[in-house]
Amino acid sequence: MDILLRRAKIYPSDAVRDVGVEDGRIVEVSERISEEAEREVDCAGRMVFPSFSDMHIHLDTALTLGRPRFNLEGTLLEGIRIWGEYKKSLLGKDELKARARRVVEWLVSFGVTRIRTHADVSQPQLTSLRGLLELKNEVRDAADIEVTAFPQDGVFTDKENAELLEKALEMGADNVGLIPHNEFTREDGVESVRYAFQLAKKYGRKVDGHIDETDDDHSRFLEVVAAETIRNGMQGKVAAGHTTAMHSYNNAYAYKLLGLLAKAGVTIVVNPPVNLNLQGRFDTYPKRRGVTRVKELVNGGVNVALGQDDIMDPWYPLGNGDCLKALYMGVHAAHMLGAEELKRSFDLVTFNAAKALGIEDSYGIQVGSRADFVVVDAYDELETLRNQPSRLLVVKEGRIVAETSPSKSYVYFNGQKSGVDTR
Ligand code: FE2
Repeated sequence: MDILLRRAKIYPSDAVRDVGVEDGRIVEVSERISEEAEREVDCAGRMVFPSFSDMHIHLDTALTLGRPRFNLEGTLLEGIRIWGEYKKSLLGKDELKARARRVVEWLVSFGVTRIRTHADVSQPQLTSLRGLLELKNEVRDAADIEVTAFPQDGVFTDKENAELLEKALEMGADNVGLIPHNEFTREDGVESVRYAFQLAKKYGRKVDGHIDETDDDHSRFLEVVAAETIRNGMQGKVAAGHTTAMHSYNNAYAYKLLGLLAKAGVTIVVNPPVNLNLQGRFDTYPKRRGVTRVKELVNGGVNVALGQDDIMDPWYPLGNGDCLKALYMGVHAAHMLGAEELKRSFDLVTFNAAKALGIEDSYGIQVGSRADFVVVDAYDELETLRNQPSRLLVVKEGRIVAETSPSKSYVYFNGQKSGVDTR
């Protein structure tokens, strides 16, 4: 065998097992594997998760914080204006790729080896798309990246934008993006949803939209996305990011929408840190949290996944690539601190993402699955979320792609040195 984990606690079963890897696949999961391997890791009861996914990140805008200026207003729209200024003078594909690559390194080091990124295609040179498609190939060994063609400035707000979106698909973008709430009118927004589905059908792609990222309770494009999904027979192939307006819908409408989303099989991608920052900016007090109804969606049978969205850019000054930080904030914002809710919250960065990516058949710590997993320095889910511990070993397709040595702290009380353990 190539890799052998000894005594690993497998998410979500709680079983402690040996896990054997050969030729990129998991070939044995049992109480005791008698064979030996080139690399053996004694987990001693520590947890192993199937590889983490980030289902919504903007690698092209990452690490541009402060360029050309900081977002002092704190709104989404001000962020779009700042990025608009920056992208007019984009330093070129190589500069963009260098920033994006750095963030991919961070993500992989935290066990995130499946990444769905947006590439802004409202720019005539399509610099973001060209750069991210190249990067996707260059880092293939360490991370599987999908690139969504994202019309940041809207599809019908400029006569070139609709063509650019189609050109991006011709160039190889994996998914069709959209941003209906940023179109000039409600009617244009609805039309942009239909246009995205038309393109998705024409080019055989999935749909991955920014939908209703606003506190405006009249922004109701998610229902249009769900309806188009059903009408086009695209159940399971559509994701809607942010959907923050749902936070502000009246409960009767939200209830109806939940049923429609479950029927349409639309994945909702939640971005807790960023929307906690951007939403509620026009409120006085009380200020809305601005995160979509994660708890109700999960309980209503809707597939919910998670994305970090922004890392050090005009929309969010923080972030370091660790999806568990975003999950940690998400369970707070969504009131999901019940024991079982905490335990299964990891589904948002594992199984639910796999479902949205259409890879669920070969995903998970089981015989026959692709060997994609992450060993953490923690003994259960609660501890993993609380401490966001070192990712001791990250494996993709049976290859080690990241390793981290845990740090060690000491305290000196009355001159006596003792090690600190927050587990
Ligand atoms: Fe986004």
